[in-house]
Amino acid sequence: MNFSRKIINWYRKNHRKLPWRRTKNPYHILVSEFMLQQTKVSNTIKYYLNFIQKFPTLEKLSQAEEKNVLKEWEGLGYYSRARYLHSFSKKLEGNDNLFPKTYKELIKHKGIGPYTGAAIASICFNEVIPAIDGNAYRVFSRYLGIKYDITSFITKNLFKTIVLKMIDWKTPGIFNQAIMDIGAIFCTPKNAKCLLCPIKNSCFSIKNNSVYKFPVKRIEKYTIKHRFFYYVFIHDQNNNFCIVKRSKDIWKGLYEFPLIESRKNLTIDEINNKLRKLFRLVVSNIVLTYKMKHKITRQILYIKFLNCKCLQFKNLISPSDIFFISHNEIKKYPFPKPIILFLKHEKII
Ligand code: ADE
Repeated sequence: MNFSRKIINWYRKNHRKLPWRRTKNPYHILVSEFMLQQTKVSNTIKYYLNFIQKFPTLEKLSQAEEKNVLKEWEGLGYYSRARYLHSFSKKLEGNDNLFPKTYKELIKHKGIGPYTGAAIASICFNEVIPAIDGNAYRVFSRYLGIKYDITSFITKNLFKTIVLKMIDWKTPGIFNQAIMDIGAIFCTPKNAKCLLCPIKNSCFSIKNNSVYKFPVKRIEKYTIKHRFFYYVFIHDQNNNFCIVKRSKDIWKGLYEFPLIESRKNLTIDEINNKLRKLFRLVVSNIVLTYKMKHKITRQILYIKFLNCKCLQFKNLISPSDIFFISHNEIKKYPFPKPIILFLKHEKII
């Protein structure tokens, strides 16, 4: 039996029963693929179901406010994906008939890269195109013994050419998803379950005892940026508290407490001065209540939360969109994970 027959037969009996596999609705598949980029399948399921329930159609998504779209993405990270998804729906004016139906058309849209484009084109429109993500590079490099650096553009094209010769022409979407499952279930980065793998008999690296030599990947050199955040949790007599919308940088479009970012440790007086200058706020007795280290891609954030009461709020020519919300309005706003953790720590949510 050839390679694609073997994996398709295996898939038909054993594939993971994931909610986005019950549909071929391109909009739903697009949502799932956007969520699955750099997020684990197990973490994606509940977000996917909630998102589809809230925005069941492209039209509903196109009519939504950005804040509500980000709310459904809260905690998933990589919020630009949610913004790209939202602007995609707006560009198409919520019209399903305008949904791009080919790989070439799909990848013209922001946020839809070669992998996502190929996954959607093959799953929804039966286009014969390999969807090769990190898991697929691992499966194919081990199976075939490809020793080239998978981060290079030339290698990526080589994989595409090779896999195009292996892919099933009748059911390319199933072929691509079978590779995803084999990469996730058997051909894992560590503790690979080779003995159970449906393609073990013809695998190059099993035969050569070299499973962990693949994939070959140039070690990426990048620097980690260390950032120091002081979040000031300011509440008034009625237990309302201050939030601000982020307009740039990480977490763009999400809400947070007034933030003072600094390269050095700040004293309470310095924080007070900055609050006055940046937000035109006068506050009392600042107390450090919570701190955490939060890692995101190529950055480590050292975050301190400071509690205080608002004494004066001079909002005349406020340079920011600072405003007070009550506890029962929290669910209307999307917040970054550290803010959610703080609100939980304070038993506010
Ligand atoms: N990873 C990326 N896309 C996926 C999909 N459609 N199913 C399972 N895992 C995936």
